[in-house]
Amino acid sequence: MTSASDAFVFFGATGDLAYKKIFPALQAMVARGDLDMPVIGVARAGWTVEQFRERARDSLEHNGGIDEDAFARLSKQLRYIEGDYNDAGTFDRLRETLGDAQRPLHYLAIPPGLFATVVQALDASGCANGARVVVEKPFGRDLASARALNATLHQVFDEASIFRIDHYLGKEAVQNLLYFRFANAFLEPLWNRDYVDSVQITMAEDFGVQGRGGFYDGVGAVRDVVQNHLLQVVALLAMNAPIGSDPASIHMEKLRLFRAMRPLQAGELVRGQFRGYRDEPGVAGDSDVETFAALRLHIDTWRWAGVPFYIRAGKNLPITSTQVVVDLKCPPMAIFDEILPVHSNYFRLRLSPEVVIATGVRVKRAGDAMRGENVELTARHQHVDEKSPYERLLGDAIRGDTALFTSDAAVEAAWRVVDPVLKDHRAAEAYEPGTWGPASAASIVRGEEGWHDPRPETSAPC
Ligand code: BG6
Repeated sequence: MTSASDAFVFFGATGDLAYKKIFPALQAMVARGDLDMPVIGVARAGWTVEQFRERARDSLEHNGGIDEDAFARLSKQLRYIEGDYNDAGTFDRLRETLGDAQRPLHYLAIPPGLFATVVQALDASGCANGARVVVEKPFGRDLASARALNATLHQVFDEASIFRIDHYLGKEAVQNLLYFRFANAFLEPLWNRDYVDSVQITMAEDFGVQGRGGFYDGVGAVRDVVQNHLLQVVALLAMNAPIGSDPASIHMEKLRLFRAMRPLQAGELVRGQFRGYRDEPGVAGDSDVETFAALRLHIDTWRWAGVPFYIRAGKNLPITSTQVVVDLKCPPMAIFDEILPVHSNYFRLRLSPEVVIATGVRVKRAGDAMRGENVELTARHQHVDEKSPYERLLGDAIRGDTALFTSDAAVEAAWRVVDPVLKDHRAAEAYEPGTWGPASAASIVRGEEGWHDPRPETSAPC
């Protein structure tokens, strides 16, 4: 039986992530009664605790709104430690501030280059005793650096105390992929190479890098969202049924799936860069970093052999939406006197902004002839009182529940998939903002059907 954490420490407390995501999650947790413990921010900003509280208020006012009652309680719990991460004194002050806490949770919302320094200083100061650690993405830059990072963490923390965060796993719609697949009997007979022709996943954003050019230019779309968020979605879509809902069973099946993903080859990736990207603050004038990626992934298992998984993700595309389409094969022969569209049968799982599960089917059109049309059977799902991904994941980490976090082996297996194309790739092709990326992205999808258009109520190729 694991005990819950009794202090919440976050490094990088004056940073962007804390401002946009962590303070709103903390306020929501306090409002629900889920965060009754000291909340200690650590940073080097030359601030006082009053300034830190002001920052928290400002964050809430700009990110979802302030709940005065919850904020008053949170404010009383807030502590602030000013200091350099290279200075042992910073960690001595943290140890003192932790007081009687036996199981602090340390959240590293800091650049990965600082992880080793902070982890070692936590250890040396005694702050790591009985502690858990939450690590933000990107978890490394490639397979070698992810391995090194895992080794650093393991010097101080055991695997059960390490929480590698991928906020996609905290989304209700993403958790529903697993639930929907394995809480219904009708899908499993179809969910394999006999019936599935291909799978498409599109993560489109209609905005650019939003002032994060300095971060993004060292990363690019493959590292930013493909290696983590989208491969996680593939794993949930394609894994076998776990033997139970406990974290170990789910992690085991996901890991098998990650290991069956074939490492990408250069010809199976198209990289794009929106025009104007190089003028963004923080971006190199000659940057070749991709703001768009389209790729063809193969999963070498009995279930999926020969079924391509097409993935595309990009900034400055026509809309903001994440959607999965599982295209089914055509009926084995044509009985009716009509030419069927390539994909009239499919499952469409829209993960955001709204949550939709739809099935594409053919039905007869009124008239003398046996001719039909495509319609969708659609279920829209609204979650009432839904937790934000950060609220959900931080709450899980406090309770010691690793189910929605990535294991050391899985994170390395996912890097293994993208590793070959991180250096050995074709140059990024320019695309106009507001379009679906460079024209050659079409070459990723085999056959005539092309990419599905994720704009609402269209599933026509685009
Ligand atoms: C982040 C990426 O992990 O996910 C961003 O760094 C991206 O570039 C974001 O915009 C998308 O997440 P969400 O939850 O806003 O769809």
